[in-house]
Amino acid sequence: MIKFNNVTKIFKSDLLTQPFTALSNVSFEIPEGSMVGFLGANGAGKTTSLKIIMDFIRPSTGEVKFSNLGKDKLEIFKNIGFLPERPYFYPSLSGEDFLRFMGQLSGLSLPEIQKEMTRWAPVFKIEHALKRELKTYSKGMLQRIGFLATILHHPKIIILDEPLSGLDPIGRKELKDVIIQVHKEGKTVFFSSHIVPDVEEICDRVIFLKEGKLVYDGPVNRLMKNAKAQDYFVSALTNDSYNPITQIKEMVKLPDNLKRFIVTSDLKDSLLLELMTNKCNIVSVEMQKPSLEEIFYKSGSQK
Ligand SMILES: Nc1ncnc2c1ncn2[C@@H]1O[C@H](COP(=O)(O)OP(=O)(O)O)[C@@H](O)[C@H]1O
Ligand SMILES: [Mg+2]
Repeated sequence: MIKFNNVTKIFKSDLLTQPFTALSNVSFEIPEGSMVGFLGANGAGKTTSLKIIMDFIRPSTGEVKFSNLGKDKLEIFKNIGFLPERPYFYPSLSGEDFLRFMGQLSGLSLPEIQKEMTRWAPVFKIEHALKRELKTYSKGMLQRIGFLATILHHPKIIILDEPLSGLDPIGRKELKDVIIQVHKEGKTVFFSSHIVPDVEEICDRVIFLKEGKLVYDGPVNRLMKNAKAQDYFVSALTNDSYNPITQIKEMVKLPDNLKRFIVTSDLKDSLLLELMTNKCNIVSVEMQKPSLEEIFYKSGSQK
């Protein structure tokens, strides 16, 4: 649906600053129907990329191509719903008035807006507050109503810039549920985040930027599979003085004679066998799965 093609963005210098390359030769695609996470630390170039897609700023070189979205710019942008990183909300509009205002800007009639509001407000868990002024909304509620405003006009793709940032865990969960729901209803979703687990949890694909360069583009699970063999956590009830013969990396004593052994994957079976032979009660065996966070931010580039 969107093809970001070899894009470089250099912010020109003024008298006091050097030119700054925010994006260098970045290419990626957003296929129809996908749920893609756009990851990167602060300053990596996510907002710059999204602004280029939205035609708010122009790339220095490269281009953005759209397919299945329309024949001209007007039609293409009607098929995109965009929530900026820092949306502005008129504080004294009620939620309802805000949605009417946004819907009318997108060319919808009032009955159409009403219909969409009735349909989506319960999904976005905002119907109880529609009559209240936006200044009484929590940050999570503002993000949800802002998001709702982006889908009123039936866009095919929704682009959200850091929709989860600044929310508490409950707010994040609620917004993630809504993103999942909107995706289930057939919309393509592309959202940026610097919080890896959020993306890991709900996206089927990740595009990762680091200092303006693309470092990974692919499915989340392929990345996880490529990760090196991991350690295992084995917890067992043993008598107090028990020490395994199998070489372990670490042993942690927990209350009530419970011990947790950390063992490399090649020695896991031998430790389990030894524990069983010694009639220790094995309580749990867990693979210490690396998170995307570790893979990306700690081990650096994957390409
Ligand atoms: N208008 C601008 N002029 C100069 N530098 C900019 C401008 N906009 C963004 N930048 C710089 O480009 C880099 C990428 O910014 P941004 O795209 O906002 O990152 P992200 O959204 O990933 O946090 C940052 O170093 C930022 O300071
Ligand atoms: Mg940003």
